[in-house]
Amino acid sequence: MTDYTPAKDDKFSFGLWTVGWQGVDVFGGAVRPALDPVETVHKLAELGAAAVTFHDDDLVPDDATREETLKRFRQALDETGLGVEMATTNLFGAPVFKDGGLTANDRQVRRYAIAKVLRNIDLAAELGAKTYVLWGGREGAESGGSKDVAAALDRYKEGLDLFCAYVRDKGYDIRFALEPKPNEPRGDILLPSIGHAIAFINELEEPDRVGLNPEVGHEEMAGLNFAQGISQALWHDKLFHIDLNGQHGPRFDQDLRFGAGNLRGAFWTVDAMLGAGTGKAYDGYVHFDYKPPRTEDVEGVWETARACMRNYLILRDKVRAFRADAEVAEALEAARVAELAIPTLGEGESLEDLRAESFDPQALGERGLQFERLDQLAMEHLLGVR
Ligand code: GCO
Ligand code: MN
Ligand code: MN
Repeated sequence: MTDYTPAKDDKFSFGLWTVGWQGVDVFGGAVRPALDPVETVHKLAELGAAAVTFHDDDLVPDDATREETLKRFRQALDETGLGVEMATTNLFGAPVFKDGGLTANDRQVRRYAIAKVLRNIDLAAELGAKTYVLWGGREGAESGGSKDVAAALDRYKEGLDLFCAYVRDKGYDIRFALEPKPNEPRGDILLPSIGHAIAFINELEEPDRVGLNPEVGHEEMAGLNFAQGISQALWHDKLFHIDLNGQHGPRFDQDLRFGAGNLRGAFWTVDAMLGAGTGKAYDGYVHFDYKPPRTEDVEGVWETARACMRNYLILRDKVRAFRADAEVAEALEAARVAELAIPTLGEGESLEDLRAESFDPQALGERGLQFERLDQLAMEHLLGVR
């Protein structure tokens, strides 16, 4: 039994914009003061996080204070040992990006967006980030005729190809991670799901340099199963990064702390991250992208940050106990789960051999699979009675 205290090895990280969210939403203004990134670095280190992430505008919104801010920020990183593992660009907040950045109809906007990304890639490389996220919140449309989707995808690809060539030429050790989302802020966003993004990556000039940063809430907003989504991303070697948070089904992006909302989904998410079954495990940073609710003051914000990490560690314990449980092993056997890893055609067997076999579909159809017993065991681990 542990006290669920995070350690550096757990590789937890937080965006400056998460704990720093002042609560501004479409219905109301700020409820909390702005946090100084230096204070955030110290507080996150104290709570046990290993790294921090940022958008250009979270850290250096203003050229007049840029150098001074970076100096203080670097000093805070040195003092605390906190790393910068990922960085990203704000291509959604300013009015100039109201129709997107890389896929805006207005070519001048696209050129400005590319310059803005390149500038922050330089900073990311300098601070040691190995992942650069692209979340295209404004890349999309509210109406059909206003966006030529094929041209938009061409321009999205052009942008990614240019960024890949840039980091290669510069010799930066950086990979890109696309973050899918179905809607919000645009009515409909391009690359809305893990699957769309994986297919898109295959069309790029350097597909190996580009992967995904899936977010729990974004897939669940679309009614999709996050654990299955990241399992497929892992299968394609595309899970470069992850945004953990909580969501209650299809509705606006709630960005709850990890574990809140769909708790059963969170259990299977951690199971998938640990490489459930024969799957590959995720070995990147465990990044939280959530918004502490507007009801909380600054103390409450740190409470939610602590809770994100604590919930992950508790769920990791539960998942490990589930996977180590002898009765679970029996239930997995009864459910024929391991049988799925056996190729359908035997070695050296021909399709003729297969067709020559006599099957008894009636008897096969009558076999129960006992999946409910297995799921109940998982439920009981989660509920803490096993
Ligand atoms: C959201 C997104 C963002 C991105 C962030 C990093 O729905 O607001 O999840 O928080 O993750 O912009 O690119
Ligand atoms: Mn989100
Ligand atoms: Mn996110």
